[in-house]
Amino acid sequence: LASTELDISAIPEGQIVTVKWRGKPVFVRHRTRQEIEAAQNVPLAELPDPQADSARVKKAEWLVVVGVCTHLGCIPTGHEGEFHGWFCPCHGSTYDTSGRIRSGPAPTNLEVPDYAFLSDTKIKIG
Ligand code: FES
Repeated sequence: LASTELDISAIPEGQIVTVKWRGKPVFVRHRTRQEIEAAQNVPLAELPDPQADSARVKKAEWLVVVGVCTHLGCIPTGHEGEFHGWFCPCHGSTYDTSGRIRSGPAPTNLEVPDYAFLSDTKIKIG
């Protein structure tokens, strides 16, 4: 299936852009320094689905995740919830600034799709 290319140069720090890929939303988040530090500094033992932030990103400033809650598939809202990542309005799962599940019924972290940096300003998803 087709891949999607995105020019990320127009996404300001702190913003999330949603693109469609294979019929699903993909969130591309330009993380702030505070968001990166929050994602990097949490002890893995506190995570329901332990995964280091460094294993989920290719560049610390950019987080790319499939925007589908791993509980029952709702679309979470960005910059919401206790951990300032995403909040799922359906049953209250909260995700952190690495897209990792932190509380609520969702069993796993937001999925990281296959993607690549084609240049400093362009990514290809899929
Ligand atoms: Fe997101 Fe249930 S679908 S918490």
